Amino acid sequence: MRADEIRRLFLRFFEERGHRIVPSSSLIPDDPSLLLTNAGMNQFKPYFLGLREPPYPRAASAQKVFRTSDIENVGHTARHLTFFEMLGNFSFGDYFKAEACAWALELVTEGYGIDRDRIWVTVFETDDETVGVWTDLGIPPQRIVRRGKADNFWWMHVAGPCGPCSEIYVDRGPRYGPDGGPEVDEDRFLEIWNVVFMQNECDDRGNVLRDLPKKNIDTGSSLERVAMVLQEVDNVFETDLLRPILAVAEEVSDHPYGRDGRDDVSLRVMAEHGRACTFLISDGVLPSNEGRGYVLRRMLRRLVTHARRLGVDRPVMPDLVAKTVEVMGDAYPELRANQSFVLQVAASEEERFGATYRQGMALFEAEVAKARESGSRMFRGDAAFKLHDTFGFPIESTLELAAEEGLSVDTEGFARLMEEQRRRAREAARKGAFAEEALAELSATAGPTEFLGYERLTAEARVLGVLSDGERTEVAGEGSRVRLVLDRTPFYAEAGGQVGDAGVIRTPGGLVVVEDTRPGPGGLIVHEGVVRSGEVRAGEEAEAQVDAPRREATARSHTATHVLHWSVRHLLGEHARQAGSLVAPGRLRFDFTHFEAVPRERLEEIEELANRRLAEDAAVRAYETTFEFARSQGAIALFEEKYGDIVRVVEVGDYSLELCGGTHVRHTGQVSLLRLVSEGSVGAGLRRVEALVGPDALRHVNLERRLLEEVLEALGARDPAEAPERVRQAVARIKQLETELGKVRRAERDREVERLVAGALDVAGVSLVVARLDGQDADELREMALRLRERLGRRGRGAAVLGSAREGRALLVAALTQDLVASGVTAPALLETAARAVGGRAGGRPDLAYGGGGQGAAVGQALEEIPGRLAELLGLR
Ligand code: SER
Repeated sequence: MRADEIRRLFLRFFEERGHRIVPSSSLIPDDPSLLLTNAGMNQFKPYFLGLREPPYPRAASAQKVFRTSDIENVGHTARHLTFFEMLGNFSFGDYFKAEACAWALELVTEGYGIDRDRIWVTVFETDDETVGVWTDLGIPPQRIVRRGKADNFWWMHVAGPCGPCSEIYVDRGPRYGPDGGPEVDEDRFLEIWNVVFMQNECDDRGNVLRDLPKKNIDTGSSLERVAMVLQEVDNVFETDLLRPILAVAEEVSDHPYGRDGRDDVSLRVMAEHGRACTFLISDGVLPSNEGRGYVLRRMLRRLVTHARRLGVDRPVMPDLVAKTVEVMGDAYPELRANQSFVLQVAASEEERFGATYRQGMALFEAEVAKARESGSRMFRGDAAFKLHDTFGFPIESTLELAAEEGLSVDTEGFARLMEEQRRRAREAARKGAFAEEALAELSATAGPTEFLGYERLTAEARVLGVLSDGERTEVAGEGSRVRLVLDRTPFYAEAGGQVGDAGVIRTPGGLVVVEDTRPGPGGLIVHEGVVRSGEVRAGEEAEAQVDAPRREATARSHTATHVLHWSVRHLLGEHARQAGSLVAPGRLRFDFTHFEAVPRERLEEIEELANRRLAEDAAVRAYETTFEFARSQGAIALFEEKYGDIVRVVEVGDYSLELCGGTHVRHTGQVSLLRLVSEGSVGAGLRRVEALVGPDALRHVNLERRLLEEVLEALGARDPAEAPERVRQAVARIKQLETELGKVRRAERDREVERLVAGALDVAGVSLVVARLDGQDADELREMALRLRERLGRRGRGAAVLGSAREGRALLVAALTQDLVASGVTAPALLETAARAVGGRAGGRPDLAYGGGGQGAAVGQALEEIPGRLAELLGLR
């Protein structure tokens, strides 16, 4: 039975039994406590916890699931995967144990056709009821195994619903291991289905806190394992889900599967991680150094390491991605839609790591050799640290590579170095931490600051705390840098990309200029600034006044950001998600996930669309509602809200809906103008655009106009439309003139050469040119001397000696033909007396020498000595 058929059969089986078929949710969960979707039940958590009414009492799904705990096992075993598909059926307070077990057994035996005699089950040790259910269903007592909490109690590994569970195992026969049931051997006895009786809620350590309002069912069955049994193959990699991808690994590495145990591990890693990375990226995970991004990065790097081990020297991800999309694209159409994006992210990350991989490996191998030489079985911790820090090798990869060499890694040494690095970072942050501590203390008594800034820009308040130099103080005098906490304030504290407000706070005795406002612990709003005059005291009345024009300019930027976000997604596609932003007075920066550079025409379209929408002058409304409601309306959430939270929604017209705590204009027309000024990359798969807003955008346009006017003026042109052509013409003309000038110069120099050659002296058959070329530098003199030598050489032996007085100094150059050198005359010797005459020395090669000295005025006289010196060297005197 093909995997596609198993998936269909499963879903149809439960659909026929009253279950709503629900699509898989993303690998990026809605649940902020979870790194990645780790079970089919994740998307139903609020129903189990009773936080939300389920829209249907029964559901079934094929869910994309990712488990990080098994990364290092992948490749080494028959069954471990990071990414897999979980088939599951769910009951929200509807049916319970009897139906869940009966249906599972029916599907396994009658649907899949697995022989009843091969079935074993496990149950939670005290769960007699379930033992009874299985017995009634005809499972013999010796194949019902009771196990403890570690094995038969399921929880999400974060706080949430949980409960005892019962698993179905298939005996794969003596070929795979000894008899004795699942307690003994997990290779022979393969778990294919887990039925969880969701009846409790636990904390983040798995401690049961209470009973759930209802008794629920959550089951999960790995499609890959079922396929492995039904397709009668040894391991998950040989099922039709993974075998085609494994074949790609064989092909790109030119290593057949099944020939060498170590190579097989690498091939399996390539296939599994290639598939998993494709799904992760398709769901929006990007490589980074933390969180899910790190999981992805680590896997990609492990994959590349294994490919290199097999001698592959070219990128492997493109083929692995393409095959994954081909195999899985029908079941998960988003893979097709995102294929090119996935390819680009994967290829770029592979390339980045590939570039340092070789150097890292050289270091690794040198370390292994060193360890061998000294008879040590330990790979040094500082080398592991360097591999991590400089070459990007995840420590897990180093451990694995070292293990293959029979070495263990000094992980303590590694951890020490990591800790030291962290300590240095902490040290740097320590100063700031003092103030944080003082604020945390203050927040205990002052509580959250009431924020009034959505409605007003001034307010009467009371000073609850004054911090100066990171410490609480009763009073701060003129000139002190302070942080002030009030009981209520119209000042917006930096959040969600929007900068904090500036303004002034007046107290009976002083005036504080607030430069920035930031969020503090426990909901405090902290005003940062300087006491401009007088003094401020804790406990005083205060009048807080936000800098209104600055705030208005910020509000314009914020609304513009939402409209820009909408425009970007509208024109580039839904994958273009906001990844960060800066909302400042008059300008904004907006980062979003998108792989390639956005061409200029596209940017212009985005800019135009955003401005057209702004000009519609739609109302901007903000209201508070529950997270669930906001999401059901399609609101885009950029931050990790929790179920049950009250959130603020900002709605622009009927097109943009975002969860947002920021301040906005009331109508989009108030933004007036948005102008994109730059677009570029800020990391793999991340683009950044910068824009100016309102009057600032206009100023930018004006600045550009002024620059253009200056260009026109310089060109002597009037019509701006002429400018580009005129500049092109001017540049072409300059080039042409330069060429012509070069020609003229060369002709002039050639004439000069001829003139000098014509006046050459004959010293005993040697043609000698001596000339004074004042003002020329050493390079120019040498150039000329070489030409003269070449020209003189045509006649026979020759020498050119040139001198120049330049900036008070004397320069001399002598160039001799080879046959003159052969008759025993050298250039340094020829220059020697002349160089002395100008107060210096001569040196260089036998055929080319330089001399120089401080007496520029003596050049003429020095040169006069040359003919006599040559005669002398020729032995004539
Ligand atoms: N949540 C359980 C599991 O993941 C059953 O679906 O195994």
